[in-house]
Amino acid sequence: MRRHKRVFVVQYGLGLVGRALLRQMLAGRERLRERTGLEVTHLALADGRGLLADRRGLSPEALSQALAGKEQGTGLAHQPGGRPRGEDLSFVPPEVGPVVVVDVTAADGMDSIAVEALSRGYGVVLANKRPLAGPLATFRRLTASPFLRFEATVGAGLPWIETLHHLLDTGDRVLRIEAAVSGTIGYILGQLEAGVRFSAAVREACARGYAEPDPRDDLAAADVRRKALILARMLGQALEWEDVPAEPLYPRAWDALDLPGFIDELPALDRPYAERMSAALAVGQTLRYVVEIGEVRVGCGVHEVSRESSLGALRGPTCLLTIWTERYASDPLTISGPGAGAEVTAAGVYADIIALGREL
Ligand SMILES: NC(=O)c1ccc[n+]([C@@H]2O[C@H](COP(=O)([O-])OP(=O)(O)OC[C@H]3O[C@@H](n4cnc5c(N)ncnc54)[C@H](OP(=O)(O)O)[C@@H]3O)[C@@H](O)[C@H]2O)c1
Repeated sequence: MRRHKRVFVVQYGLGLVGRALLRQMLAGRERLRERTGLEVTHLALADGRGLLADRRGLSPEALSQALAGKEQGTGLAHQPGGRPRGEDLSFVPPEVGPVVVVDVTAADGMDSIAVEALSRGYGVVLANKRPLAGPLATFRRLTASPFLRFEATVGAGLPWIETLHHLLDTGDRVLRIEAAVSGTIGYILGQLEAGVRFSAAVREACARGYAEPDPRDDLAAADVRRKALILARMLGQALEWEDVPAEPLYPRAWDALDLPGFIDELPALDRPYAERMSAALAVGQTLRYVVEIGEVRVGCGVHEVSRESSLGALRGPTCLLTIWTERYASDPLTISGPGAGAEVTAAGVYADIIALGREL
């Protein structure tokens, strides 16, 4: 009979991805136990303000109750058993056994918790890009540990990071990466290709939930820049944030506007984008927002690409990573699929938790 191994999880973040993760983990307990022998139990849940923790492990009933409370908008601090959240892991009892700390927040400053967790010998899983896209020294410190996993930071549930690790660990040399990593920008450019005005495409992206409530969060390409920085650093490039240029899709002067003012200005971009798209289509090309990583440089911006290419053939919010290496030199390795969405992202995080659960 298979021996069971208990693994404790401390989960930071109960937003879209965090709640999807908790639902998947609650639903998957028995299957995971049967398939892997792992009994994964939440030791604590934390949100922006509160903490719910039980040193013996939170029961499925307590977790379901916390989930239902969050879905109704009640913070953990105000739920039964909840209390204000601290800034460290002092609530984790010593000698508890294997612990995996999961960051599914979008918060700054989570790197200190990741560093503390790794120094205590815990595993860490990140969906939050910020700890790896801050200072290079922090990236190096975190990724020096074999117990850090961060698959969901770049491709949500797509196995991009794992694939890069396989290539690098087995001695292949990555020559070039070309990627479309923003489902939101991909959707907007796809709409332009179909003849939709830029301003209407942005509004549609917001209405469908692809874009953040303030679409500048997507259109400034900061998220793309973080992903490009993480990929380039994985290849060994010693880059800081300012070394990664990323072209925004609107004039940066509009950052000073309030949201309604920004939305009012958008039609001014309809004509220039329509003209650029028409010129591209006339010669068999289209526009895509492309991350390009060479052996020494990184760039992110709107490019004309052939409609016949894998980037040009992308539809809607689909993302794509193409890697040229010494072994995959003429026929590159390509992985594409949905690069965002709570369910696939949560599954990417869950798979990282399971992998660490086996290793710790
Ligand atoms: N959504 C996607 O498709 C996708 C894809 C790939 C990666 N990601 C990444 O996954 C992460 C989560 O995304 P999301 O869409 O779930 O975000 P979200 O809905 O904004 O949720 C963020 C959660 O983090 C909590 N939080 C904020 N600061 C915290 C802190 N210091 N400690 C503990 N919890 C804190 C928030 O608390 P409150 O509930 O109290 O506000 C909220 O529950 C982000 O980093 C995002 O970039 C998302």
